Amino acid sequence: MKTAIFFGSTTGTTEMIAQKVGELLGAEVYSANEIDKVEEYDFVIFATSTWGMGDLQDDWYDALEKLKTKNLSGKKVGLIGIGDQEGFGDTFVDGIGTIYEEIKDMGITLVGKTSTEGYNFGSSKAVVDEEFVGLVIDENNQSDLTDERIKNWVEKVK
Ligand SMILES: Cc1cc2nc3c(=O)[nH]c(=O)nc-3n(C[C@H](O)[C@H](O)[C@H](O)COP(=O)(O)O)c2cc1C
Repeated sequence: MKTAIFFGSTTGTTEMIAQKVGELLGAEVYSANEIDKVEEYDFVIFATSTWGMGDLQDDWYDALEKLKTKNLSGKKVGLIGIGDQEGFGDTFVDGIGTIYEEIKDMGITLVGKTSTEGYNFGSSKAVVDEEFVGLVIDENNQSDLTDERIKNWVEKVK
């Protein structure tokens, strides 16, 4: 399956995670600025960190507007959210919640929802029906769990 990851990253953390996932999945890895390529792929993964108070990473504002004009019908979609549950426990990884909200009715099949077990936060837009809408990574507080979380998620979505 032709797979691509599109990431938005301000200080490099999301990019690093996207590269790791890309390597394990054999996926192309692009900046969100290259979102125009999205229609070339069957399985697309959108990765964003969260900034401000629950805001998307900067590159995703334009990318999401463009994404909404694309034909995603029939595609499998995965989401990867990077955030800080201790520093921003009420807006934890909200960014992927925002992306999900915008694309969920575009005929996609969401893959790779995950349990919130093992995280400690107050609230998150990324939680839908008591599960995260994608893979959630917290390099600020739980970097020791990152490799295991990536591995489990990749196995699940493969
Ligand atoms: C000013 C600032 C605001 C942030 N706001 C949030 C937030 O609302 N929710 C969250 O989960 N993480 C938040 N974070 C944490 C970042 O998402 C985290 O540091 C992430 O690893 C950055 O990834 P990047 O380098 O790929 O952009 C914030 C960090 C900073 C410095």
